[in-house]
Amino acid sequence: MNKNFVWFMAAIAATGGLLFGFDTGVISGAIPFMQADLNITDSQIEDITTFALIGAMIGALVSGALSDRFGRRTVILVAAVIFLLGALWCGMAPDVTNLMLARIFLGVGIGIASFSTPLYIAEISPARIRGTLVSMFQLLITVGLLGAFLSDSAIADNTDNSCWRTMFYVGVVPAIILLVGMLILPESPRWLLSKQREDEARKIMRKYEDPAVIETEVSNMKNDLQQESNQMGLVETFQQKWMFYPLMLAALIMFFQQAVGINTVIYYGPSIFQKAGFADSEAAVMAQVSVGVVNVLFTIVSLFLIDKLGRRKLFFLGMTGMVTTLLLIALCFANLDTMGDAGRYGIVGSMLGYIAFFAVSMGPLGWLIITEVFPVKVRGVGSSIGSVANWTFNSLIVWTFFKMIKGFTKFFNDNDALGTAGVFCVFAIVAMVGIVWGYFFLPETRGKKLEDIEAHWKNGGKPIDL
Ligand code: BGC
Repeated sequence: MNKNFVWFMAAIAATGGLLFGFDTGVISGAIPFMQADLNITDSQIEDITTFALIGAMIGALVSGALSDRFGRRTVILVAAVIFLLGALWCGMAPDVTNLMLARIFLGVGIGIASFSTPLYIAEISPARIRGTLVSMFQLLITVGLLGAFLSDSAIADNTDNSCWRTMFYVGVVPAIILLVGMLILPESPRWLLSKQREDEARKIMRKYEDPAVIETEVSNMKNDLQQESNQMGLVETFQQKWMFYPLMLAALIMFFQQAVGINTVIYYGPSIFQKAGFADSEAAVMAQVSVGVVNVLFTIVSLFLIDKLGRRKLFFLGMTGMVTTLLLIALCFANLDTMGDAGRYGIVGSMLGYIAFFAVSMGPLGWLIITEVFPVKVRGVGSSIGSVANWTFNSLIVWTFFKMIKGFTKFFNDNDALGTAGVFCVFAIVAMVGIVWGYFFLPETRGKKLEDIEAHWKNGGKPIDL
């Protein structure tokens, strides 16, 4: 096996994950400056942030069909071009309407990358390192987020409110790397086989695979493809009674992953720090870097724990930690005027704790569960449902965050700190409901064979008895 080639592939494919993280996270540092520069309201900020997520939903929805039709490589190339043009468009946007359109456009690229990059990595990497490469994808998203926070904080400049434009322009660099890299990389041999282009597939495999195993690999892939040709479609999937539990699990794990409010901290972190009393935009953007660092570190921790502790233990550990830290954030906000600095630093500290508990549990768990609970025949449709659910709930929470704060603020006689505390209490309550749900429904899938899980559903088994 040609190791260099494999590493090269991994690095390029990694850029897809990095871009996914970068382009969702870059907005956080841009917001305080954009607001001062363009004079826009919180509700417009919600729109600008959410439009990228709606674009991502569209991208994730169409990329399955497009990558089957035109090939994985072609579709990722298109995503790279979208990342490139989208970054330029966002940076140059003359007004809010343009900014919103540019964000939808960029979002489509994110959605395509979120679906096609892991697929391409899985298909082109040699079987032995496939698992590692694919599970690295979540880690790379967090590295991309950190990259965005770092770059935002390096660019942040209190004397120049238009600095948010440069923050978006930085996205051009990884987009060019992805574009050039994908031009050099070959198409997925597995996709070529599905199009009966066997000779081309063999030729590509010779570049990185041992000649002795090529024929076995080709026939394995053909077998897989044969199996996949009996895949159930979307309508058929919903008609099967025994599909109820897997579908419910995929939708609700994504619901709880998002409804505990993770992306309000990821996208709006600096704005929350400002509400906590760190008035200076530059300092608020810098504080967000610590959120990114903790996120990366604890995602690495989870890679080690997920198979050791099992899914359920990790779930309860993470969710209990999140309930506690969310309540602490709320408590500090509610007593901000009496606590002073202790309150402010309490908010930052609890927020870092909250991120650590998320990164170690729900971050990777959400994406893992959706690959485990579906039978082979519906894995394609199943993962798309999971990923669309993820973007949908993400959009809803991110789009309503400031609206909820406003609602609670009014309720508490125009006290903004109490209003913010109210919203974090809501997230804590959602997490508590999640714990109860998990207790009754979340199956322990560690070490279970996918075939056994499928048989369990077909025999009318409940998730908890798995
Ligand atoms: C979630 C994203 C989130 C990220 C944070 C992922 O698992 O799906 O919405 O931004 O974790 O690291």
